[in-house]
Amino acid sequence: MRNMVILTLAIGLTACTTASQPSAPSTKADLYQELGGMPGIARIVEGMLINISEDSRIAHHFGDTDIDRLNEKLIEQICVESGGPCEYTGDSMVDSHTGLDITEGDFNALVENLTDAMEVQGVPTPAQNRLLNRLAPMRGDIIYR
Ligand code: HEM
Repeated sequence: MRNMVILTLAIGLTACTTASQPSAPSTKADLYQELGGMPGIARIVEGMLINISEDSRIAHHFGDTDIDRLNEKLIEQICVESGGPCEYTGDSMVDSHTGLDITEGDFNALVENLTDAMEVQGVPTPAQNRLLNRLAPMRGDIIYR
């Protein structure tokens, strides 16, 4: 009987613990909120572009770039990738990066600049990783083109 009570208590406790934990996995739309919606994404992209301009490893790639357009297209793209209410109106990743001779090291440098910008904006690390995981598959369309 005593064992039954202990068992019942243990099951009850497990149920309580389980119920108090966030059960549903975060959805794509949650990521948009975690990035701070449009104002947050705009600040992240601005921070990333400033970091890039100060990064001697990759700044030279952007010498002839229309930064206002790049800023606008990056905001749209990150909005879409995080589940936000946007449409991406820019060129494909292959078209916009072909002929730029972007290496794997360049790609990693840009990811570092983006991560630093998210850190400054206080984006939680799991949300940072979720955005990076959404962008990672684009790598093959961007490097060595
Ligand atoms: C996940 C990584 C990346 C994403 C999501 C991304 C996204 C974009 C987007 C949305 C555009 C604008 C396309 C348009 O104008 O319609 C663009 C253009 C551009 N990207 Fe990237 N990019 C990435 C990596 C890189 C890297 C690593 C470099 C170089 C270090 C780079 C250099 C450029 C340049 C120079 C342009 C402007 C091209 C032009 O002036 O026409 N990008 N990128």
